[in-house]
Amino acid sequence: MAALIQTASSVLRYRGGAGQWAWAIHRAAGLGVLAFLLLHIFDIFLAAFGPALFNELLFLYKGWLARVLEIVLLFGLLYHALNGLRLILMDFFPIVASRKITRNFIYIQLAVFLLLFVPAGIYMMYNLPADQFGQNAALSILVTFGVIALPAIIVALFSFMPLRDGIKIDSDASVGNYQDGFDRIVASRSHRVMNRTELNIWLFMRISGLLLIVLALGHFFLMHFIYGVENMDFNFIIQRWMDPVLGLFWRSYDLALLFFALIHGMFGLRYSIEDYVHHRGLKMTLLGLAILVEIALLAMGAYVIFTFNATA
Ligand code: HEM
Ligand code: HEM
Repeated sequence: MAALIQTASSVLRYRGGAGQWAWAIHRAAGLGVLAFLLLHIFDIFLAAFGPALFNELLFLYKGWLARVLEIVLLFGLLYHALNGLRLILMDFFPIVASRKITRNFIYIQLAVFLLLFVPAGIYMMYNLPADQFGQNAALSILVTFGVIALPAIIVALFSFMPLRDGIKIDSDASVGNYQDGFDRIVASRSHRVMNRTELNIWLFMRISGLLLIVLALGHFFLMHFIYGVENMDFNFIIQRWMDPVLGLFWRSYDLALLFFALIHGMFGLRYSIEDYVHHRGLKMTLLGLAILVEIALLAMGAYVIFTFNATA
């Protein structure tokens, strides 16, 4: 815990520039989307127990606070996807990793992010019913830019805080040359032993990342911009999973999403556990716990996809 706080504060106070911030937000966004996913697999699993319980719990998605948090979720997912894509390009096309080009890529990535996120965020907020703060253009713009400002607000707050006397900043990204620290942490290569298993995990992170651009962003896009969260209930799942023509396709799509998102996210969580938890016993316990949660959620998610058999 002390290591986590120290790393967080050193990352927040170290003025490492665009590359370091891109990495810090990438990690926070990945962990945030994973937290949502763990809860989400559990709530979809409840569909196995029939419509009453499921429909009752849907209020979780439909209140105004949940809908604003969905804009934050889109922020995290879209940012992480675009930044992940840049990392993958850097890994496979070394020219992209050269300092000058990397910096330009970060700005292109930011421009694409804003171009996609701003209209999507405004649309999602504006589409709420009027009694849930929707249908109000000024408020929709304010909320969307508020979500964008979140990381900036956190950075600003921490920059004003004086460094505690004697604080030792020893995270990799904070030892002086940010580009070097950034390269080492983001590429995740030189400070991890690259045996065959690690290499396979490294490759899996990149292949699953590319697949998730279609699977996870596609799923989010369909749910929010084609179907609409307000139309979601038990019958909605019946229409998708029991459809005589497309049912098998949607079940396979959800199974692939479940498999790749959960395993990618849990391997990602392992990076944080290994970086911040230095006590060997605690590290092993947390890694073991993460594997148990992963197996349980994979089983629950797959169970409901394979066995769901309700009719309207
Ligand atoms: C707030 C936005 C979201 C909504 C409203 C939503 C809604 C749904 C619904 C209704 C289903 C049921 C199956 C279906 O109709 O296809 C589902 C399944 C699923 N969603 Fe989402 N989803 C959202 C975001 C996400 C995100 C961001 C991810 C991935 C990171 C994700 C991953 C999954 C997975 C893996 C399943 C299958 C779960 C299982 O097998 O139990 N969803 N989602
Ligand atoms: C949408 C497409 C996505 C892409 C292109 C992508 C790409 C990447 C890449 C390239 C990495 C770095 C891997 C490494 O350092 O070896 C990464 C890390 C990570 N990803 Fe994703 N990812 C995506 C979706 C997701 C989703 C849906 C989740 C959550 C369920 C997630 C959670 C994480 C986490 C927690 C990390 C570790 C971050 C760190 O500690 O540095 N990612 N991702």
